[in-house]
Amino acid sequence: QEQNTAIAIDGPAATGKSTVAKIVAEKLKYIYVDTGAMYRALTLKVLNLDIDPSDEEAVLEVLLETDIELTNESNGQRVLLDGQDVTNEIRHQPVSANVSYIAKLPTVRKEMLKRQQELAKDRGVVMDGRDIGTHVLPNAAVKIFLVASVEERAKRRHEENMAKGIPSELDQLKKEIQQRDEIDSNREIAPLTKAEDAIEVDTTSLSIEEVVDRILLEVEKYKTTQL
Ligand code: CDP
Ligand code: CDP
Repeated sequence: QEQNTAIAIDGPAATGKSTVAKIVAEKLKYIYVDTGAMYRALTLKVLNLDIDPSDEEAVLEVLLETDIELTNESNGQRVLLDGQDVTNEIRHQPVSANVSYIAKLPTVRKEMLKRQQELAKDRGVVMDGRDIGTHVLPNAAVKIFLVASVEERAKRRHEENMAKGIPSELDQLKKEIQQRDEIDSNREIAPLTKAEDAIEVDTTSLSIEEVVDRILLEVEKYKTTQL
């Protein structure tokens, strides 16, 4: 019997996590969970309510009464915030600029961890984020840590934004990515860091297909050891 296999994909901003995670999940017929989208959706709601992102008690209160759903539609993965489609809005600059402040709140992380582990229960899952291999799915079968130069990452995200019609400025994007990495790496709870047993892949000069193949190879290796 096929057991519940988890694949954890972590790394700094715009290294290609969600793009490759989605493809790997499709190929393996696993579900894909974008944990960054969950933090982004909460951030959007907090900003809309005009709540201070550093007010932990207020942010947690909002989260506890917030429904965040990740769905698979014909037009791709959608993010539903209390039933409303916010897929594009959560990629806009104000959310990007504030999300790391919300993601560093310990009680917020605790609640997100609970929800993420619930989503991964009893089924094959590919999950991407910052602390999946270290905290959310510490027993994941395969752990991947993606990295890439900040220039390449800013360029990729900029092109992605242009294609999606999301306002974007290359230099600002680069600064924001660096700032977010800095906050994510230095927070007290579940900082962005490579799990000891994660495989690091530098995607700077790799195509999406090459990264996907690399991950699938690791999955194959894992499955062989399970026979
Ligand atoms: O796609 P991008 O790399 O820009 O970021 P994301 O994956 O959408 O995550 C947005 C932010 O959420 C990150 O910068 C972190 O502050 C936070 N996050 C986190 O703290 N833990 C996770 N597992 C996923 C995201
Ligand atoms: O999820 P994360 O923030 O790590 O990155 P992403 O949003 O999946 O990827 C950012 C952009 O880089 C997307 O537009 C991808 O098409 C592009 N890209 C990639 O993901 N991997 C490569 N090896 C090359 C380009």
